[in-house]
Amino acid sequence: MNINFTYLPGDGIGPEVGAAALEVLEAVASKFGHDLNAEEHLVGGAAIDARGTPLPDETFASCERTGAILLGAVGGPKWDHLKGADRPELGSLLPLRKNLNLYANIRPCKPYTALIDRAPLKRERLEGVDFIVMRELTGGIYFGDKGRDEQGAFDMCRYSESEVRRIAIKAFDLAMTRRRKVTSVDKSNVLETSRLWRETVIEVAKSYPDVELEHLLVDAMTMHMLTRAQDFDVVLTENMFGDILTDEASVLCGSMGVIPSASLSDGKMGMFEPIHGSAPDIAGQGKANPLAMILSAAWMLRLSFDLGAEADAIEHAVEAALAGDHTTGDLGGGLTTFAVGQWIAGYVGR
Ligand code: NAD
Ligand code: IPM
Ligand code: MN
Repeated sequence: MNINFTYLPGDGIGPEVGAAALEVLEAVASKFGHDLNAEEHLVGGAAIDARGTPLPDETFASCERTGAILLGAVGGPKWDHLKGADRPELGSLLPLRKNLNLYANIRPCKPYTALIDRAPLKRERLEGVDFIVMRELTGGIYFGDKGRDEQGAFDMCRYSESEVRRIAIKAFDLAMTRRRKVTSVDKSNVLETSRLWRETVIEVAKSYPDVELEHLLVDAMTMHMLTRAQDFDVVLTENMFGDILTDEASVLCGSMGVIPSASLSDGKMGMFEPIHGSAPDIAGQGKANPLAMILSAAWMLRLSFDLGAEADAIEHAVEAALAGDHTTGDLGGGLTTFAVGQWIAGYVGR
């Protein structure tokens, strides 16, 4: 099979974790007899520097054409003085998500056995934790009108009922394949968008009588995630709450560097990226953990190319790397970013 995808390394540690993931993808392709073709394009700050725009036309055209995108990270101090859509984040990542209609962002939280003692929480708080956050990705405060006026600044938060309904359906469908529980997180004691969110989720739940539905306010959820994370199966939430809660969830898993994500639409179109950013504090030093990027590549194979066995092979290799301490410093190991990629590639290839 021809695995033709768009590869967007981006900024900071993006190209470092990307190189490690490409190494693994090449090993998988050769092991399983596929042709790998990465269409590499500029995005984010790297694209601003080289082309004067964070999302060049040919980058977007490649994404539309391949329908499978592997992205490292965008942004960094060098471009922090820029405003609005001139910024890497607002000018590339957000339009990619919006214009490709990638409204369903899936982020897993399932601590690896080998990492349980590395997390700052007690073992009994982590054993058995296995939930997935279904984050709405193309609406809410990220995409409302924003600007400045005489008094100050504003960011408008809007959700339409159909935007809430379609992500709720994704969450309930996912729960049906798992432990049949949806925890919907909102701020319905204050926000009108959250009241609509809760009403709509309750309405959608009527079509899923076998799925238990729980509602939590987001402030309380930050605490419940640390004290009873085992109770969650599918966590359904809006764009900004999902962003914040998944960084918190990464602490349960031992590092920001181990959580992949998939951003999906209704068909096969998908963008796959780690939940972490460009990590300017460690960029260029070979310290970045590439596992989130490698696992994102595995998800791309499974979800965009239906290559389940190939994805499983990568995931097993990641487990073996963790079990044998073939890891970067954030997980207590002594390997560089690329060396972890090479180790996993070697494991997949044997
Ligand atoms: P960050 O996720 O880049 O880093 C937060 C902390 O986690 C840092 O201490 C970093 O060293 C560590 N970390 C992150 N990834 C790691 C990895 N793979 N291995 C080991 N440690 C890792 O968040 P930030 O510092 O708040 O943001 C930096 C820049 O990244 C900002 O410009 C932000 O806008 C951007 N960002 C981009 C994305 C994306 O492209 N999807 C996501 C988040 C942040
Ligand atoms: C993420 C990031 C992005 C977000 C930023 C860089 C726009 O934090 O993917 O988690 O907030 O969605
Ligand atoms: Mn984030």
